[in-house]
Amino acid sequence: MTVASSPLLDRLQQKLHELDTQHLSRQRRTVSTPHAPCMTVDGRPIVAFCSNDYLGLAADPRVVEALQQGAALYGAGSGASHLISGHSDAHAALENKLAEFLSPWVPSARALYFSTGYMANLALISALADKDAEIFSEALNHASLIDGARLARAKLSVYPHRDLQALDEQLRQSQAKEKLVITDAVFSMDGDIAPLRELLALCEQHGAWLLVDDAHGFGVLGDTGRGVLEHLDLGSPQLIYMGTLGKAAGVAGAFVAAHETVIEWLVQRARAYIYTTASPPAVAHALMTSINIIGSDEGRQRRAHLRQLIARLKECLVLKCWRLLPSETAIQPVIIADNAATMATGKALMEQGFWVGAIRPPTVPIGTARLRITLSAAHTIEQVDQLAAALVSIEKNHS
Ligand SMILES: Cc1ncc(COP(=O)(O)O)c(C=O)c1O
Repeated sequence: MTVASSPLLDRLQQKLHELDTQHLSRQRRTVSTPHAPCMTVDGRPIVAFCSNDYLGLAADPRVVEALQQGAALYGAGSGASHLISGHSDAHAALENKLAEFLSPWVPSARALYFSTGYMANLALISALADKDAEIFSEALNHASLIDGARLARAKLSVYPHRDLQALDEQLRQSQAKEKLVITDAVFSMDGDIAPLRELLALCEQHGAWLLVDDAHGFGVLGDTGRGVLEHLDLGSPQLIYMGTLGKAAGVAGAFVAAHETVIEWLVQRARAYIYTTASPPAVAHALMTSINIIGSDEGRQRRAHLRQLIARLKECLVLKCWRLLPSETAIQPVIIADNAATMATGKALMEQGFWVGAIRPPTVPIGTARLRITLSAAHTIEQVDQLAAALVSIEKNHS
C-alpha cells in the first residue's frame, strides 16, 4: 500500500531535499573488516583517520578473545535490566576496577557502568539536576551533554567556549540551590582540552559540582591512561567523571565515577540506567582486558607513539588557506569552513585511499565545516606522512 500524500512525508521530503542542496546530507559507508587503520570500505581498501580507536584496541586479539570468553561464560545477552536480573559478576568487577582506577582523583568514588556514553550523560544529568538546580553548559559540549541538560528539569545557562569570566558571572548571578557545571574534557570536534583546573576552582568558589565528560581523554591522557584528571593531576570529591569505553578502550559502553551517594542515587533514580536492558556481560568481561592494557607499560608505549604521530602530523601539515586547529590531542581538525569544499576534500582524500571525517553543521557551528582527522596508536609514521602530503596537495590544487 502506498501513501499518496501525507503532511509528515511531504515535510520530511522537503527537509531532506534542503539538506541535499546545502551539502548537509550524511551517508553511511559499509565497513567489512575489523576496525583498524587499514580497512575495506564499500569494497575498497583504505587507510582510516576517522575512528576513535585511539590506542588500536578495537581489534586487538586479546580483547577479542576476552569477548569470546565472556560470551562462553555469560552467554550472548544480559537478559534483563540491571535492577531486575541483568547485573552480572562481569559488570560488578568492571565497576570495581574503574572506581579503583579513578580513586586518586575522585575520592570515595564508586563507578557505574552504562551501555553507551550517550546514555550515561542523559541518565546522569537528568537524574541529578532537578527543578531547584541550574546547569551551566559549555557552548561546544557534545550532543549527549546538551540532550541530558534538555531532559533535566533544571534551568539551563550556556557559557561561551572556554569563557571563564562569563561562567563566573553566571554562577554569581544564579539563585539556584544546586549548581552543576558540565563540560567535555577534550572537545570532540575541536580537540582542545577544557581549562579544568580553573573550572574546578570556580566551582569550588561557587559551591557548584563539575561534571567532566572525558570520552576522548580516558585511556589516552595521563601517564597510566586514566584520563584528563591524571593528566592535569586534578581531584575533588565534587567532581563527577564520565569516561567512555567504546573509544580508547576499544569495546563499548561508558562509566561514571563519583561520590558513592551520587552513584547510589543514579542506581535508584536515573531512568536511562534503570529502564533499559543491561549490555551483554561479555562486553564488560572484554573491557577488563582493555583496562589492563591501558594501565600497563604497553599502554604507556602506545600513548607515547600516539603523541609522536600527533607531533608529526602538526609538523607536516603545513596549510595555506585551511587551518589546523591548535589541538594537542589525537583529534586534529582542519577548518575548511565551506560545506561543499569540505565534502569535496573528504571525497578527494577517499579517492586517494584516505578516510577522514567531514564534519558539518549542526555538529559544528555554521561556517566552520572541517575535516576531523583522528590519530590512533595503530597508525604508522608513514601513514601520517602520506595523509599530510595528500591533503597539502589537494589544498594546493583547490586554491
Ligand atoms: C564528548 C562525548 N561524550 C559522549 C559521547 C557518547 O559516547 P558513546 O559513543 O559511548 O555513546 C561522545 C561520542 O560519541 C563524545 O564525543
